[in-house]
Amino acid sequence: MSEPILSRNFNIPDAHKLSVAESRGAYETAKKVLATSKPEDVINAVIASNLRGLGGAGFPTGKKWQFLPKDNPKPVYLVINADEGEPGTCKDRYILERDPHQMIEGIIISAFAIKSHKAYVYIRGEYVEPYRNLQAAVDEAYKKGYLGKNLFGGTYSLDLVVHRGAGAYICGEETALLESLEGKRGLPRLKPPFPAIVGLFGCPTIINNVETVACVPHIMKNGAEWFVKLGTPTCGGTHLFSLSGHVKKPGVYELPMGIPLKEIIYNYGGGIKGDKQLKAVIPGGISAKILTAAEIDVKMDYDSLKAAGTMMGSAGIMVMDENTCMVKMLYYATKFFSHESCGQCSPCREGTGWAHKIVTRMYHGEGTLKDLDTLLTIARNMEGRTICVFADAAAWPIQSYIGKFRAEFEAYIQNGKGKDLKPQEAVLQHG
Ligand SMILES: Cc1cc2nc3c(=O)[nH]c(=O)nc-3n(C[C@H](O)[C@H](O)[C@H](O)COP(=O)(O)O)c2cc1C
Repeated sequence: MSEPILSRNFNIPDAHKLSVAESRGAYETAKKVLATSKPEDVINAVIASNLRGLGGAGFPTGKKWQFLPKDNPKPVYLVINADEGEPGTCKDRYILERDPHQMIEGIIISAFAIKSHKAYVYIRGEYVEPYRNLQAAVDEAYKKGYLGKNLFGGTYSLDLVVHRGAGAYICGEETALLESLEGKRGLPRLKPPFPAIVGLFGCPTIINNVETVACVPHIMKNGAEWFVKLGTPTCGGTHLFSLSGHVKKPGVYELPMGIPLKEIIYNYGGGIKGDKQLKAVIPGGISAKILTAAEIDVKMDYDSLKAAGTMMGSAGIMVMDENTCMVKMLYYATKFFSHESCGQCSPCREGTGWAHKIVTRMYHGEGTLKDLDTLLTIARNMEGRTICVFADAAAWPIQSYIGKFRAEFEAYIQNGKGKDLKPQEAVLQHG
């Protein structure tokens, strides 16, 4: 990869401050776009750029913006999803903490494009430092006339509110996020209607991820064609990949869409720690199906990962060496999902709890071979049967870990492994 784009200021000291950000070109594109372009020009450029939502689902951004009703008298809201709760993912954190003005500039141009005058950033509650830097950046932007009334001395006005979450993973799901923002419990809504039609406070709303809107100024500055060329034919630009686990150099890497997964692990990540063998990789956060070492010849873009039976998700790549215990991995995955299920839909509320109970028992040396099929039945009864896809995400680790490492699960059970482990708190919680 030649020039960093989204990450170009990550290692610049104090780049979260307006003076430093401006010395690096912040807000120049927003000023120009607001002075010389029409909202449709921005939408057309974003469509032509092949920008796809970087929050997980990969939906084409410009197309989503076009879903807004044309003749609706209600206000239009732009909501930025900065909840970043997916285990293995810390990419948005870098933008929020190290270069918040990049995102604010993206919000200004995106809000202008969809004719919104009020935007919200819903930020993960645990992100204390990113919140402080973001709020300070918003305050500085207001003082300088880059937010509020008549931006940059022109005719367009935009207010931006930063709202902190309270530690629930489900509030990253866009409709649960809207509920939470309205002051209610974060329970996902039934769709349709989709938020573009009935969103925040019943008004048309666009929800985009932090990194998605951060791409917009670069598209407007360098052109859609430039952005297309960075990525694959169906997916423009670069992506911030969070690389963690048993690699020598974990971190957040900005790389082109479609880069081979192997290259990320071995070239950028420096290979497996202690020069051990690779066992498995989760390519897109804990919700994504696991890939075995034999399956990592895959490109990191939405279509290639889908064809490989998994997904890009949050682009949180978790690498596991030969010594990783898959029963333990499943123990932690089910613990996470049972803890985070909002409880609204029975298959998810009950299924995640049952699965975690069984895996906990298995992990502590009390499993039976029959448990494996029971777990697969529970997973099957969660997938596709709930209001949101949280339950699917909870089912996929069960299906893929057992499906691909069944012999290891069977050996663990038959050899009575785990009997010496101390009972975990989780057993009591769900007992
Ligand atoms: C359980 C769950 C958690 C999610 N968490 C996040 C999150 O933390 N951040 C995010 O941007 N999108 C998250 N999403 C995806 C959002 O619902 C939504 O697709 C995204 O914010 C849209 O923005 P984009 O089009 O720019 O990607 C989550 C989805 C689900 C089902």
